[in-house]
Amino acid sequence: MIGIQTEQQQDQQQEQRPERQLNHRYDAFAKVTGRAKYAAEFPVKNVAYAYIVQATIPAGVVVSIDDAAASRASGVHSIITPFNAPKLAELGNVNVLQDTTVFYSGQPIAVVVARSLPEARSAAAMLHITYKEQPAKLDFDGLLSEARPPKRGGTFHRGDTAAALAKATVTIDQTYSTPLQNHNPMEPHATIAAWDGDKLNVYDATQGITGVQQGLARAFSIPQANVHVECPYTGGGFGCKGYVWSHTLLAAMAAKVAQRPVKLVLDRGQMFGPVGSRPNTSQHIKLAASSDGKLLLQQHDSTCYTSFISDWVESCAAQTNLLYDSESLSTSHLVVPLNLGMGTWMRAPGEATGSVALEIALDELAEKLNIDPIQLRLINYAEKDPRSGKPWSSKHLREAYAQAADRFGWSKRNAQPGQLREGNKLIGHGMATANYGAGRSPSSAIVRIQPNGRVFVGIGTQDIGTGTYTILAQAAALALAMDPSLVDVKLGDTTLPRSGGSGGSTTAASVCPAVYDAATQAKLKLAQLAVSDAKSPFHGANVADIDTKDGKLFLKSAAAGDPESITDLLARNGGAAIEATATSELAKDRESFTSHSWGAVFAEVAVDADTHMTQVRRVVATYDIGTLLNEKTGLNQLSGGVVWGISMALHEASIIDKKYGRTVNENFADYHVPVNADVHEIDITCLNIPDYKFNPLGARGIGEIGITGAAAAIANAIYNATGKRVRDLPITPDRLMA
Ligand code: MOS
Repeated sequence: MIGIQTEQQQDQQQEQRPERQLNHRYDAFAKVTGRAKYAAEFPVKNVAYAYIVQATIPAGVVVSIDDAAASRASGVHSIITPFNAPKLAELGNVNVLQDTTVFYSGQPIAVVVARSLPEARSAAAMLHITYKEQPAKLDFDGLLSEARPPKRGGTFHRGDTAAALAKATVTIDQTYSTPLQNHNPMEPHATIAAWDGDKLNVYDATQGITGVQQGLARAFSIPQANVHVECPYTGGGFGCKGYVWSHTLLAAMAAKVAQRPVKLVLDRGQMFGPVGSRPNTSQHIKLAASSDGKLLLQQHDSTCYTSFISDWVESCAAQTNLLYDSESLSTSHLVVPLNLGMGTWMRAPGEATGSVALEIALDELAEKLNIDPIQLRLINYAEKDPRSGKPWSSKHLREAYAQAADRFGWSKRNAQPGQLREGNKLIGHGMATANYGAGRSPSSAIVRIQPNGRVFVGIGTQDIGTGTYTILAQAAALALAMDPSLVDVKLGDTTLPRSGGSGGSTTAASVCPAVYDAATQAKLKLAQLAVSDAKSPFHGANVADIDTKDGKLFLKSAAAGDPESITDLLARNGGAAIEATATSELAKDRESFTSHSWGAVFAEVAVDADTHMTQVRRVVATYDIGTLLNEKTGLNQLSGGVVWGISMALHEASIIDKKYGRTVNENFADYHVPVNADVHEIDITCLNIPDYKFNPLGARGIGEIGITGAAAAIANAIYNATGKRVRDLPITPDRLMA
């Protein structure tokens, strides 16, 4: 078991390393017994049900909506359309019935509110909608020539690319593609909204309660403090729940119009379009190297679709700017506007897709150079951040390559493709590098040491399934040297101290230090109380000499002494809790280094020579993510990321019909994600080397790095198995047949 400790504690080289691991998920019992309530499950009196009506054309305008029949249907309270919807103030890039423009098929164009969901759906089907259609842009490949730079950002250059290319002995020049994908957390998006005068209470399935609070306050022109958002549990987010989409605003609008609380839950099909996508990409990569494997040029030009609503870029080439050293580099991003829903963050946006192209290209280069793929990566190892020349706060990617290669048995790999056969199965091995940035946002927390000996932690973050409850109980327990099972954690409520959202793998590194600091300050207050209490054995002692362990105060300087229980001290002093709030500050010297996480992923595949079906038999990965805060939840996040990688490599793609612009596989039968039968051995290890420059607990985020590199490792293994290089994902059997 791995405990967590601060740098100071590590320096003290304690004989007894504090074990403050919570060995089960904090929320496990609530979840398996069904007591954990998700947004749509809160009982709200007199609640009505809203159903979103979606456009059936990909481009044009809504000319009329005849709601006569629907209004008379049983149970119907209200029908809201662009022709009668209340005007909202400030909006993000969402379509909430403020005008009649249709940007994509599936866009919300009306909302029906009724007594029950079946009645709302049935009335929705009775609306008679007429459109004026306009020609739609739906053919990404056919429109590549219309690609344009995005409104913001996109290019980076280093060195003299032409001179570097002229020196090269080996080059790779290829185009790779990744498909459009849609997020499919088990819990669909859901909102319950209830007005009380100009106060709004909301249950929302979200990755950021504060963002929802702000979005609603702006849209309805009310003070932020008037909006109360609760989200104790989120059933998976992966980026789609990091944005305030139309349904959340429409639920609040419907509650206002219908003058009663409203529940709005998206059905599975509605997850494909109105709540973001991972845009498909076409990525051109040019690599040039000298015969010794040194990279002279890396060029990565990525094009993705964007909506006509607002530009959103899948920033595939951004990771290429820092992953490997090279004499010269050039990266760019372009977008092709299409009549589809908006793109958004989806697990490791940019890195997941960008690493597909770059890491397959490196595999191709390694083969041309006749250099082992790991060796090629070591030759071009970035000792410092190639963008800025700044040092890394901590980087141990070399050790990750070595450890994963050893566990995988890479030395026994046959570099010659198509050599290994077991019956009708072609066996192959491949590898890739994983990487993801490390970020933090300022976060505040409250910690209360209760008179009954338990400790309360409150923080306005949310647990999207990653283990936030669990590691926050640990962080408080670490500061107070107590059993984490005596810590009660409350999250997902905007009345709690504010913290950053649960996205970008930033949560753990943001919230744990805040809770640790608040608990440390509460401990200090406890010590101050003891020294000023005439009846305490520590009366008159030095505050700095007092510490706590297992619910007792003790003097650090005394070899042995009489500890006093915290409950006794509090009981003698009025029986009130001791509480403290703290805000975790970002490292003051953070501009002087770059913090990034790394990993090495290895895959073994078996490709059926007859059916061309691929089975990922084994994935072995080692990550350098700083401190592993909790083995159970941490390794679970990383292996979940690898499963996403399997999905990206073999299964997952939203198929758009080019005439109507609809997602033809908008359900779990046709939108393939891996099931248990697709997932075999996954061996995850972490180096667990703390990055104390990044934060006091040494931990960088781990939610997203697991998907990066994984799809490329699998694609490279498929090449090694079959000798067929597939550069377009997912690698379905048809792509291996030709
Ligand atoms: Mo992540 S794509 O920030 O949920």
